[in-house]
Amino acid sequence: MTNEQTIARAKQHFGEVVAEQLARVERLRREGDWIDYSAVSPIVIGMIGGDGIGPTIGDATQKVLEHLLADEASSGRVEFRTIEGLTIENRAAKMQSIPDDVLEAIKGCHVTLKGPTHTPEKGDGWPNIESANVSMRKELDLFANVRPVRIPKEGIDWTFFRENTEDIYAVGSQGINVTQDLAIDFRVITTPGSERILDAAFSHAARAGKRRVTVVTKANIVKTTDGKFLDVAKKVSERYPDIEWDAWYIDIMTAKLLDVKRRGEFEVLALPNLYGDILTDEAAEIQGGVGTAGSANIGKRHAMFEAIHGSAPRMVMENRAQYADPSSLLRAGAMMLEHVGFNETGARLHKAIDVCGMYERKLRMTGRSTGAPSDEFGQYVMDTVEDPALDSKWQSYVEAAG
Ligand code: IPM
Ligand code: MG
Repeated sequence: MTNEQTIARAKQHFGEVVAEQLARVERLRREGDWIDYSAVSPIVIGMIGGDGIGPTIGDATQKVLEHLLADEASSGRVEFRTIEGLTIENRAAKMQSIPDDVLEAIKGCHVTLKGPTHTPEKGDGWPNIESANVSMRKELDLFANVRPVRIPKEGIDWTFFRENTEDIYAVGSQGINVTQDLAIDFRVITTPGSERILDAAFSHAARAGKRRVTVVTKANIVKTTDGKFLDVAKKVSERYPDIEWDAWYIDIMTAKLLDVKRRGEFEVLALPNLYGDILTDEAAEIQGGVGTAGSANIGKRHAMFEAIHGSAPRMVMENRAQYADPSSLLRAGAMMLEHVGFNETGARLHKAIDVCGMYERKLRMTGRSTGAPSDEFGQYVMDTVEDPALDSKWQSYVEAAG
């Protein structure tokens, strides 16, 4: 191929990416309003097992949720559905990141609780299909990845609003090997896409009585796309005169989360997709490990709740799946309850997870046979939710730790 032909091929490819993204911006501009769960009956909750340790922690969590919503299920206010087939084997066989019938089933639910799914990577033997997570976020337009991290005894109460559908992820499978020596990926940041995530962060801050929103980019280097995110942040902040905001660069932010003197000052953090992916793993680790953090993927019509970690194939290979810690998915379950309007039940579940995982710790999760199995921990949480003394117990633990 001549250089001209190589360039023409690259231009053609870039043109297709641009055309798709222009169409996407149009769709974003026409986007409807938020669903009102109080007007929906039944609220359909889909349970998706996933890969690796997914089915184990999924079962433990499902039992707790079915128990907590037993009355609502029998009165017809909620309906649980089990969604099969979001497994790497089925996805590889169909060569689809989410097989059509599975996607239909997911779209038939208002909210789903999803175990981790395996994301194929170069050389792992699975075909190069897109991550099921990334597809689901795009298909259902789950643009806000909300990840809370709390360490009450340190005064840490962070809520990350990670943009979930743009950035390098929007077209992460559409990069181009221009020649054998030149690879180019594309990064997409749009005005409406930035606006809705930043607005979600600021309005959360306003609702939750927070003082400050911190916007994280690398706009000094990545001037066009991060520059846009920051410009939009300025604009959105004007709608919230009572909320302070500040801008940080991702590198120093990563360091500051480790600064025990400063880190308690951060409250709500808003950031583009990839920085959010990385920073929230760090934050979860500070809280006690990625196994302790839940994650909400929220769109205006659908929402999906999941653990922030992966499917832990090593645990499965070493026959330790049954010892996986279900805390992250239980946390996600509590966030789901709050999201659809069962605020009190959700809050109780959060408290029970705190008591079981952070304070009382009658059972220890070690990820191996030296600790408790997943289902026993689930039962422990369930018993703790039912404990009439839960509120006062939780309160005294928090005070003692503080
Ligand atoms: C996450 C995960 C996913 C991501 C992977 C599994 C695609 O790391 O939810 O943070 O990168 O978003
Ligand atoms: Mg991640």
